[in-house]
Amino acid sequence: MRRILVTGATGQLGHAFQTRGRDYGDLKLTAANRHQLDVTDELQVNRYFDTHSFDVCINTAAYTAVDKAETDQAACRLANVDAVGFLAKACSKQGIPLIHFSSDYVYHGLQNTPLRETDPTLPKGIYARTKLEGELLAQKLHPQTMIIRTSWVYAANGHNFMNTMLRLGRERSELKVVFDQVGTPTYAPDLAGAVLEMLQKVWTGAVPATALQGVYHYSNEGVASWYDFALAIFEYSGINCKVIPIESTDYPTPAQRPPFSVLNKAKIKAAFGLEIPHWRSSLRKCMQGE
Ligand SMILES: NC(=O)c1ccc[n+]([C@@H]2O[C@H](COP(=O)([O-])OP(=O)(O)OC[C@H]3O[C@@H](n4cnc5c(N)ncnc54)[C@H](OP(=O)(O)O)[C@@H]3O)[C@@H](O)[C@H]2O)c1
Repeated sequence: MRRILVTGATGQLGHAFQTRGRDYGDLKLTAANRHQLDVTDELQVNRYFDTHSFDVCINTAAYTAVDKAETDQAACRLANVDAVGFLAKACSKQGIPLIHFSSDYVYHGLQNTPLRETDPTLPKGIYARTKLEGELLAQKLHPQTMIIRTSWVYAANGHNFMNTMLRLGRERSELKVVFDQVGTPTYAPDLAGAVLEMLQKVWTGAVPATALQGVYHYSNEGVASWYDFALAIFEYSGINCKVIPIESTDYPTPAQRPPFSVLNKAKIKAAFGLEIPHWRSSLRKCMQGE
């Protein structure tokens, strides 16, 4: 029986790990919410690891309010940098791998071909910078850290673009959505399922344990602008709402979004033999409650 700790239990990804974990009979998955394990409290983190044993720690806890972060820097840094360090140290002491999630926001270059893990980072804004700093700190403190950079995460529960569109689409006859930011949506249960599949492959010896180290990309397959994503959400939900494409300059936000953040997933697919669904088929599944 393998024991997995998932932090940030109430978040999109934290929740997805709990549902996907049920597919595996040989796993004991402990999902801790903020009250059970506040990752920003180093003493609590250490006490938690001293009194529990795990085979891996999966950190989904994070400060994810991208715009609010611009005026709430200290809290953002505490959760996205310091807390990651506390977990990395605790994992190092226990001799277990840490799987940590980062963001497409670490990129902000002019590149318009799918980004590889080795492409230069250029984080803009507090959230983006703290996500990159968290990555670097974890890797420095605990080489057995796997960083998964992902993008545009959504699920049936949680605060995300899909749920915002569904709500606004029912209230309004038309919506303006940016078409000059291009990336790929990621269905949280697909990402959680992929991580559990990767762990199984390592634990059964099909993939070497050293593969659980370094930076990887994961999103669904395909490419979309937010405009395309909104159109598909209305198409699959049957909501009759006109979508008008606009430019980012017409929709200013406190934090800048990367204009192009399509992630190349060749590395993770080759290392773990993963097959990744297209974002449209996963969106359809999400809408059907799968
Ligand atoms: N959402 C996206 O579009 C996106 C895109 C790229 C990367 N990512 C990354 O993917 C990961 C998961 O994101 P998500 O979408 O699942 O985020 P989410 O839904 O916002 O969930 C984040 C979770 O972290 C918890 N948390 C925050 N501070 C905490 C603390 N001090 N101690 C314990 N838990 C704490 C939150 O708890 P409360 O509910 O109590 O606040 C929440 O459950 C994050 O690392 C994020 O940066 C997300």
